[in-house]
Amino acid sequence: MKTRESGMPDESMWSGFFSPAETLTKLGLTASCGAVVDFGCGYGTFTIPAARLVRGTVHALDIEADMVDATRRKAEDAGLSNVRVVRRDFVADGTGLPDGSADYAMLFNLLHCEQPEVLLREVWRILLPGGRVGIMHWNHDPSTPRGPSMDIRPRPEQCREWAERVGFIHQVSDKIELPPYHYGWVMEKP
Ligand SMILES: C[S@@+](CC[C@H](N)C(=O)[O-])C[C@H]1O[C@@H](n2cnc3c(N)ncnc32)[C@H](O)[C@@H]1O
Repeated sequence: MKTRESGMPDESMWSGFFSPAETLTKLGLTASCGAVVDFGCGYGTFTIPAARLVRGTVHALDIEADMVDATRRKAEDAGLSNVRVVRRDFVADGTGLPDGSADYAMLFNLLHCEQPEVLLREVWRILLPGGRVGIMHWNHDPSTPRGPSMDIRPRPEQCREWAERVGFIHQVSDKIELPPYHYGWVMEKP
């Protein structure tokens, strides 16, 4: 089931909201990372810079065929051989990845979904001990140019609390500012 309010505007508009490489660095993705999983890759906005950075495979999952096609095309155009793009409903069917097989998971602009803890439990399952999840979301501010409705848009503390309930610990004591419109957390599976 596609998560609520997870449709995308035109790519030209969407890409204007982010500085992807800088965001990934701030959210702790490093060259030493092995397998990475991008939950809901969309246009591949973060998949491609992640694949350029890490040595492992970036698994990019999305329920929408056009998002999968866009990401696959970008990876091919960039000559990246470490991107695996899969059309998949990870809410209904999980990721299909083995337990403890990934170093890093990207949960970007997604935690306004109906069951955030279910998603975070799947992230927990696939991460290795010491693996991390980068969470990014729209600021809890109605003046942002996009983002889910305020009644379902999680506050930063709420995202952290959900992750902590699943067992993650936070690496830095405060949220990470990702201007102009986003914040983030890096949480670790001990
Ligand atoms: C708001 S977009 C964010 C895209 C990307 N993470 C980013 O920040 O650029 C959410 C994406 O999640 C995908 N999505 C929503 N529900 C899904 C599900 N159940 N399984 C797989 N993908 C899903 C949507 O198709 C969409 O591409």
